[in-house]
Parts: sequence; C-alpha cells; structure tokens
Amino acid sequence: MHIAVIGTGYVGLVSGACLADFGMKVTCVDINEEKIKKLKKGEVPFYEPGLEELVKKNLKAERLFFTTRLDEAVKNSLVIFICVGTPSKPDGSADLSQIKSVALSLAEIIDDYKVIVTKSTVPVGTNRWIKSLIDANKKSNAPVDVISNPEFLREGAAVEDFMHPDRVIIGGESSYAIAIIKDIYRPLYLAETPFIITNLETAELIKYASNAFLATKITFINEIANFCEKVGADVTVVSKGMGLDPRIGPKFLNPGPGFGGSCFPKDVRALIHQGKTSNSPFKLLEAVIEVNEKQKLRAIEKLRELCGDLKGKTIAVLGLSFKPNTSDVRESPALTIIPELLKAGAKVKAYDPAAIEEFKKIVKDKVIYASSPLECVRDTDALLILTEWNEFRFLDLSQIKKLMKTPVLVDMRNIYEPSVLKNLGFKYSGIGRKVIA
Ligand code: UDX
Repeated sequence: MHIAVIGTGYVGLVSGACLADFGMKVTCVDINEEKIKKLKKGEVPFYEPGLEELVKKNLKAERLFFTTRLDEAVKNSLVIFICVGTPSKPDGSADLSQIKSVALSLAEIIDDYKVIVTKSTVPVGTNRWIKSLIDANKKSNAPVDVISNPEFLREGAAVEDFMHPDRVIIGGESSYAIAIIKDIYRPLYLAETPFIITNLETAELIKYASNAFLATKITFINEIANFCEKVGADVTVVSKGMGLDPRIGPKFLNPGPGFGGSCFPKDVRALIHQGKTSNSPFKLLEAVIEVNEKQKLRAIEKLRELCGDLKGKTIAVLGLSFKPNTSDVRESPALTIIPELLKAGAKVKAYDPAAIEEFKKIVKDKVIYASSPLECVRDTDALLILTEWNEFRFLDLSQIKKLMKTPVLVDMRNIYEPSVLKNLGFKYSGIGRKVIA
C-alpha cells in the first residue's frame, strides 16, 4: 500500500511516520523546502517524544519518503491523507484556505482512482465540499472518494496515541473506500481498537464535540477551584471525589492556568461559529472561552495577593509551553500572563526545558531567559509555575529559597503541597487550595 501524506506538521508527520512503521510506503509532502530538506536527514523540526527515532528508523527502512512534489507523492498512492492546518480566522471560524488549495492541486494531478482522507480538523460539511471541489475541477475522469478520519493525538504523547488509539473514526459514503481505510488500520483492528464507521458529518462532529467537551470539563474544574478558594475546600480532593464516579471519570479534572494548545481554543471557537451559522448556538461553549480567558489572569491576581503591587518586582516563570513534553507555545497561558506581568511593570525571568526558542519568536527579548530553574529564580521576588514539567516537580526548594529575594511561590498546576511549603517558610498559593500567606 502506497500512501501520500500532505502536510508535515504534528498530525502529518506523526501519522506518516506511524503508518510507515505499520509497514506501508509513505511519502510525506510539504511546500516548505527547508523543512523537507531537514526531514530527509531525519531531523524533526519540533520536540515530540519518540518521533525523531521513528522517522529515522523508517527512512532507513525505505518506507518513509519526503518531497516537496505533490504530483510525485500522489502518482503512486492509492490513499492521500490531508493533514494541513486549519487555523482560526479572526471571527473564530476555521480558515480552510490550505484545504482548498490542496483540493484544487489534487484536482489537477489525479488521473486514477484515489481515496482522499481528511485528518485535519475541519468544520462539519467540509469533506463533502472537498469532494465537490475536486469533482468540479478535476482534469481526468478518475473517480475520487472522500473519507473523514479525524485524529485525537495529544502533543507530547502523539506517537503513543497513534499506535494505541482509544478509537478510530471513519466517516464516508463509499463502502469500498471505507474498506481500504480499515485495511490501513488493520494493525489496530487486530489489537481490538474500537472502530466507528459513520457518515462524513458525524465523523467531523465527533472530533469537535470531543475537544469541546474536554475543554468544558477543564473549565468546569477551574471554576470549582476558584470557588474552593473562597469557601475553604480543597479542589484536589474534590476532583478525586468526583472522578471516582465512573460517569465523570478522573481525567481532565486538574485545574490550571487555563487550557491552551493548537486544538482546544481553536476547535471550541470553530464549533461556536458553526453553531451560529446553523442557527443552533452553543451558549455553554461561549462561556467556556470567556471563563478560560479569565482563568489565565488568575496567576496575576495570585501574585498580587502575595506580593502586592507588581511594579518593579522580578518574577521567575517556570514553564512556557501550554503543557509538558512539547515545545509548542500556541495559545499557551504564558503568552497571556507574561505580557500582563510586563504591562504591570514587573521584570520577568523565564525557563522552559523545550519551549524557549518558540516563545522567543513571539515575545522576543522582553523577557530574560534562563538556562535552568535555579538560574531563573535567582534574585526574584516570586516564582510562578505555569507548566507541570517533571523537572519542576522535585525542585530543591531550600536552595530556591536561598536564591530568591523573597520566598513566594504561585503554583498554577498544584504540583506542591501547601503544608510542605509552609514548613519551608514560603508564601504559597496553589489553585483551589489553602493559601499560605
Ligand atoms: C488535545 C486533545 O487531547 C487531543 O485528543 C486532540 O486531538 C488535540 O487536542 P493537546 O492539545 O495535545 O490534545 O493537549 P491536552 O493534553 O488535551 O491538553 C490541552 C490543554 O488542557 C493543556 O493546556 C493542558 O494543560 C490543559 N489541561 C488538561 C488542564 O488544564 N487540565 C487537565 O486536567 C487536562
């Protein structure tokens, strides 16, 4: 089986490398020549655990190829995965310009039966539109089938998620095309992964509804955490108590500085937009976005509660990526919080194990970047933890206390115990727990 994967971002590269590892011949295409040049040498342009090894292994085995030539990749492939970006437009709707451009290019090239599989997250109705666009513009009479096969890859665990998914969703109308895609995923089928075969619209919506639900779950616990602080309850225990109900489940009940990343904010906004244009508004999701934006500012409120006016203070920030094990800073709470700190007249020193380069591209040198947590906290008035990287879980707090001007810790991921910090003489504020002032 020959497969073409269009787009070598997170989704495309992980899918391409994993499909090659299943034993298929996969050609990944991207218009970015520099990126393709690097990928040909096995260099992955972002940090994703296990991915570079997988790319190198399958390059060597001559199952994985990279090119900038779409025609070359498509010519020999029966199945073409579309994995290009669908970023947010200013009105919240998904920008489908990359999808459109790929569909029109495919219409030019295709001269034999092809199955076009959309992995990119696209609004309900897009796959039907892709098919009509290709049919209306194609140069040959070759038939084309379109399949919706949304991905549920978590950054930082994407390879694992591809290899061991909770489910595989296949939406389509042609039973022949569906059978081909099921065949591609046969290794998962054998491992008893549940498959859902449905129509295009349902498959498209499963993706949006899943992400919107998880974003809502996080936002719910964030509001519960804020309430806990007012009434003396401990959110970590509330989450545990709730999560033991199997109808609720324990996952995604960790409060934090607000959800971020390349999917949740964009997908929730896009679903809200789709609801509006279909005259079926998502009031709940509008509140989710509003509450999440406010949640990011809780970190600043907490710093003020413990340090007073932030003007002239130096704040150490640990964690710039939107979550651990990734260099991705897209919609990271740090991108809202740090500019707010600077606006309040504070100086910011920051450290992250993987995301400094990405963060620098946006915030530039308005921040002092440190090369270790200890260097970051030296001579600072407060420490703010924004991302729960493992290396922040066992910091030498006594040493940190010595290095800081004043021992103040705002822990937006609840990775420390308030009582431990109290004994060490810190002022400490976690989230949804007792504040040590
Ligand atoms: C998400 C979905 O999980 C994945 O299935 C989808 O296809 C792409 O979007 P990802 O963006 O990689 O994956 O991150 P995820 O681990 O889901 O976390 C998203 C955000 O929620 C992060 O900012 C994270 O810190 C936050 N979060 C998550 C919480 O604040 N609390 C939690 O309990 C869980």
